[in-house]
Amino acid sequence: MSSLSIPAEFTLHRTNKFEHSSPLRWILSHVRPYWLIMIMLIVGAIGNAVLAVVVPVLTGDAFNAMLKPTPDTSVLLPLAITIGISQIIRGVLQFGRNFGAELMAQKMERDIRDELYLSLLGKSMTFHNLQPVGDTMARSTNDVREVNYMFSPGVNLVVGSFMFILMPIFFAPRYHISLIATPLVFTVIYFIALARYLKQLSPITDDVRESFGKMNTHLSESLDGVEIMKGAAQEDAEVNRFGINANEVRNAFVQQGDLEAKYIAMLLLGMAYATGLVHALFLFRAGLIDVGAVIAYFGMLQLLGFPTFTSTWAYSQISLGFSSARRILELINSETKLDQNASGRTSEMRGEIEFRRVSFSYPNGESVLKDISFKVKPGQTVAIVGQTGAGKTSLAKLINRTYDISSGQVLVDGVDVREWNLASLREQISIIEQDIFLFSRSLSDNIAFGKPGATKDEIMSASIAAQAHDFILDFDQTYATTVGERGVMLSGGQRQRIALARAFLTDPRVLVLDDSTSAIDSATEDKIQRAISNAARGRTTFIITHRLSQIRWADLIIVLRKGQIVAIGAHDELMKTSEAYSRIFRE
Ligand code: CTP
Ligand code: MG
Repeated sequence: MSSLSIPAEFTLHRTNKFEHSSPLRWILSHVRPYWLIMIMLIVGAIGNAVLAVVVPVLTGDAFNAMLKPTPDTSVLLPLAITIGISQIIRGVLQFGRNFGAELMAQKMERDIRDELYLSLLGKSMTFHNLQPVGDTMARSTNDVREVNYMFSPGVNLVVGSFMFILMPIFFAPRYHISLIATPLVFTVIYFIALARYLKQLSPITDDVRESFGKMNTHLSESLDGVEIMKGAAQEDAEVNRFGINANEVRNAFVQQGDLEAKYIAMLLLGMAYATGLVHALFLFRAGLIDVGAVIAYFGMLQLLGFPTFTSTWAYSQISLGFSSARRILELINSETKLDQNASGRTSEMRGEIEFRRVSFSYPNGESVLKDISFKVKPGQTVAIVGQTGAGKTSLAKLINRTYDISSGQVLVDGVDVREWNLASLREQISIIEQDIFLFSRSLSDNIAFGKPGATKDEIMSASIAAQAHDFILDFDQTYATTVGERGVMLSGGQRQRIALARAFLTDPRVLVLDDSTSAIDSATEDKIQRAISNAARGRTTFIITHRLSQIRWADLIIVLRKGQIVAIGAHDELMKTSEAYSRIFRE
C-alpha cells in the first residue's frame, strides 16, 4: 500500500537522519555533525595532559640543579618561565575543550528536541491514547537534558582525564624503564574496576530515570484532574500516593550515591602513590635514578588523581545519559500503526462516503462497532443517533483514519481511505470533536488554526457564518482575546461556534460534527442551529446529535445501538418502520 519507510502519521513532510537501531548508534549519529568539535576536544585534552606533565618534569630538573655540589641557580628563572608559559597555553586549551564540549552538548540537545517533537507529532492517536502525557513530558524535557550533561561535563571529563592516565605510562620510562610498572598496573586495575562499576551502575541509572518518569506521570495526571480530586476531597490520598513516587525517586538516587561511594578507584590511587614512591626510592638507593627523577615521577603519579576524582561522577553522568537515551529512543521507536501513504490519492474529494461491513475495536478493548454498512451521496446530511457509548464518535473517527478499522472497508469517493494520501484525506475531512480543544492563543489564531495564512476578513466572515462574531465582539480585545490559561474561558456553545468557524475557513468537502452536548438555552440553540445549517450547505455532513430538529431534516439517519445499526433511512420512513427510532421522538 505504502512505500514509505517511516511510519509517521499526518502531514509531516520532514524526516530526520538519525540512526535508531541502538542507543549507542543513536548518540553517535547525533555526535556526527559535530565531529570537528569532537576532534578539537581530543586535541585539547591531549595538549592539556602533556602540558600538565611539564610541571613535575621541570620541577625535578630544578631540584637536580639545586642539589649539584655547586648549585646552579641560573636555570631556575628559565624553568619558571617555561612552566608559566606552558600553563598559560594549557589554560587556553582547557578553555577550548570546555567551550567545545558545552557548545556541542547544547547543539545536540537542541537537535534531539527537534527530532523528538517531530516524532511525537507524527504518531498515531492510538499511541497518544496509551502513552501517559507526564511520562512523555519527562522524557522530552529531563531525559533530553541528561543527554546534554552526558557530553558536558560527562564525555568532556572522561576524554580529558583519560589522557592524564596515559601520561605517567608515556613519561615515567624516561627516568627508568621499570617505573612504568605502577602506572601500568594502576591503569589495568582502574579499567577493570570501571567496567564492573559501569555494569552495576547501568540498572541503577535506569531506575533513576524511570522512577522520575513515573513521578512526573502522576504529577501531570493529578494536576490535570485537580478539579475532580478536590471535588471528591481526595487531596490527602493523592499526596500520599505522590509521596510514594517521590520516595522511589529518592531511593534510586541514594542507591546511585551508595555505589559511587563504594567505588574502589580512590583506594587504588592511594596504593599507587605508596608503591610508586617506594619503587622510586629503591631505584634512588641503588643509584639508578637521581633525586630530580624521584620528584618528577611522584609528581607524575599525582596526575592520576584527576581521572580518579572525576571518574566517580563523570561516569554516572554517562550512565544516566545512556539510560535517558534509551528512554528517548523507546519513545521515538514505539509503534505508530498508521502510515501516511504519501504516494496515495490526493485529488479533490466529491464527498461520497461508504462503509462496507466495517468492524472496529480499540487496541486493547472489545469490539466497539460491528458490521456497519451504509452509503452517503456527496452533499447529503447524515444524522447519527444512539445512546451514550453506542459508538457514534468512534464511527466518525474512522472516516478520516484517526483510527484504522479492524475489518471491512471505508470508502471515500469509491476509494478505500487507506489508499488516500493521509494529509489529503484529512485536509478535506474536518471533524469537530465532542470536546473541543482550544489552544491558549488568540481567538483569531484558534479560528485560523487549519489555515495559518488566513486574512482578517476571511476570519471574520467565517466567524459570522458560524454565529461567533457577535460574542467575540463582546470581549474587550475581540479577536485578539487569549483563550484559556491566563485568558478567557469559553462556554461549550461558544467553543462549538469557534470550531465551526474553523471549519468554514478550511472549507472541507466532508464535515463531521460531534455535538453530543444537548442542553443549551434556546437562543444559543437557535444560533448554533443556524451555524450548523450554514456549515452543512454544499458538503457532505455528519451530525452526531440529540437535537430532534436536526435529526428530522437529515437525508439519512443512522440509529446505533451497542455498535450496531438498528435502523437506517429518512425520518418519515423510519417513523413508520422503526420502533427504536420513533421511540426517540416519543420520549
Ligand atoms: N472506547 C474505548 N476507547 C476509546 C474510546 C471509546 O474503548 N478511546 C469505547 C467506550 O468504552 C464505548 C465505545 O468505545 O464503550 C464507544 O464509544 P464512543 O464511540 O465514544 O461512544 P459515543 O456513542 O460517541 O458516546 P457518547 O454519546 O457518550 O459520546
Ligand atoms: Mg461521542
